[in-house]
Amino acid sequence: MAVRDIVNYSDPQLRKKSRVVTEFNSRLYKLLDDMYDTMLKADGVGLAAPQVGILRKVFVIDTGDVFIEAINPRICGINGSQIGMEGCLSVEGVNCEVKRPMRVLAEYQDRYGELVRKELSGLDARAYCHELDHLDGVLFYDREYSEEQAQ
Ligand code: CO
Repeated sequence: MAVRDIVNYSDPQLRKKSRVVTEFNSRLYKLLDDMYDTMLKADGVGLAAPQVGILRKVFVIDTGDVFIEAINPRICGINGSQIGMEGCLSVEGVNCEVKRPMRVLAEYQDRYGELVRKELSGLDARAYCHELDHLDGVLFYDREYSEEQAQ
């Protein structure tokens, strides 16, 4: 395992769409292990592969409540909403309010390619949505919550 460099928000890689993972092999395991180490070292709750310069649909989350290694993730259902502060390991020193679903039905593959379905709520749902956005080249401040959205 190793800690990788986290790319900064100015890096164009962060604006690209990630590709589907088709091979569940030792290279993927190494990426996941490294991403976990990198996330812990940076004291974050989530990290997406584009943040370490890899344009693949992979992210890790550890909120203390749940630990997820998500490969080819998507959202099958949403419920409710929450407005709360977000930050990002690629955007140091910036936080803003973002509106997210309160609950999501997450579907992804684990590191062995097995399909997983999991209901997430609160911070877990927020982290999942934030990391999923990274795979589409979207950063949290693109979704900054404004008063107009409340009306
Ligand atoms: Co982020």
